[in-house]
Amino acid sequence: MERAKIKAVMPVAGLGTRFLPATKATPKEMLPVVDKPAIQYVVEEAVAAGIRDVLMIIGRNKNAIANHFDSVPELEGRLTEKGDDSRLGHVQRSSDLADVHLLRQGEPKGLGHAVHRAKQHVGDAPFAVMLGDDLIDERDPLLTTMIEVNEKRGVMVVALMEVDPESISMYGCASVEATDDPDVVKVTDLVEKPAKEDAPSNLAIIGRYLLTPEIFGVLEHTAPGKGGEIQLTDALKEVAADPAQPDVYGVIFRGRRYDTGDKLDYIKAIMRLAADRDDLGPELRPWIKEFAAGL
Ligand code: G1P
Repeated sequence: MERAKIKAVMPVAGLGTRFLPATKATPKEMLPVVDKPAIQYVVEEAVAAGIRDVLMIIGRNKNAIANHFDSVPELEGRLTEKGDDSRLGHVQRSSDLADVHLLRQGEPKGLGHAVHRAKQHVGDAPFAVMLGDDLIDERDPLLTTMIEVNEKRGVMVVALMEVDPESISMYGCASVEATDDPDVVKVTDLVEKPAKEDAPSNLAIIGRYLLTPEIFGVLEHTAPGKGGEIQLTDALKEVAADPAQPDVYGVIFRGRRYDTGDKLDYIKAIMRLAADRDDLGPELRPWIKEFAAGL
């Protein structure tokens, strides 16, 4: 179903320091996962949930992202001449997928600041925030469920995932109450990247949010938090605590997620996605077994 009014906002202004030197001149979102840049999977996920309008909040050095979602007449002409329809289709897919808009973040003051920059573009409808480091396997729909929770209850929604308590300090962490649906919870409190001993749960925010425009008014006065940055988690904590604001709900994701911002997870993502593909899987799967047997 096409959801004409819902737009997606993708903050892609991060420096990608964990992947240096690969990210010295190339944005981390452009690192290939098999044969597509990581960010294309995220745009495809938005499109699969019925979203056609994507706003990327970019930093400096992100021209490659703009180019990737634009058409390349010379290359397309060459492939047409050669009659290489398959490659032509792949090249055109990224520019035909969605309407991709770009906005510079200006100063990099944090995720909350980046989201606030989207205010003008988003207007008065609910919108999705999708972080480029998190890839959600297309076989495990998450965003559609989050949109449905918003439509049914008029609330803001965060995606939550149970993580190993050792790693909760890498995420926003939620205190929750159960609802009548085992995969949907009400969020009562949030804390950004707590120390393990201070974490109220092992439910981590993964990079998908379905927000309503009330968030902009809150972000306007959200003070810098963890790391001196304006944190989206802090703004959502205020929303959850304020009876005058919409409620905040969480959808608990139990599917396959890859954190391509982490080197080891990035390698695992490539292996898992390639092993499942018809063109690569039949040769790759026996090779993985042989390789693992020799370790
Ligand atoms: C951001 C958010 C954090 C969330 C995480 C999900 O952190 O601030 O609450 O859990 O994304 O990936 P970052 O990973 O950008 O430091």
